[in-house]
Amino acid sequence: MKKIEAIIQPHKLEEVKEALKGIGIDGMTILEVRGHGRQKGHKEIYRGMEYQVDLLPKIKLEVVVPATRADEVIHTLITAARTGKLGDGKIFVFDVAEAIRIRNDDRGEAAL
Ligand SMILES: Nc1ncnc2c1ncn2[C@@H]1O[C@H](COP(=O)(O)OP(=O)(O)OP(=O)(O)O)[C@@H](O)[C@H]1O
Ligand SMILES: [Mg+2]
Repeated sequence: MKKIEAIIQPHKLEEVKEALKGIGIDGMTILEVRGHGRQKGHKEIYRGMEYQVDLLPKIKLEVVVPATRADEVIHTLITAARTGKLGDGKIFVFDVAEAIRIRNDDRGEAAL
């Protein structure tokens, strides 16, 4: 199993959710986060030496999927979330050791 974390623009959340639903991905977690990438949010030079770094609102979407579906999910996320502008976001992929459905002890992919 793989955990795919996608940090996306908040205004893309609905489109991304619909796209994942469209390929049969059910479970997911959404977090409201703040962050910055290479542009460090909005940078202001102050007296030529100081600068302020803003952390911009982003959405982090976490989804655990069978490893065989990871590429498809990543492709779907990219297609739905991309505008082509700075700040479109980033995807990080992790190995997942186990998943357990608390209600009935389902394990592994059966728990997703
Ligand atoms: N290396 C990183 N580690 C953790 N989070 C990151 C990292 N890079 C970006 N993020 C998160 O992703 C969000 C969006 O990043 P962003 O798309 O601006 O990346 P970028 O590298 O600056 O690319 P671009 O040049 O397209 O803007 C950030 O606000 C931050 O929350
Ligand atoms: Mg950026």
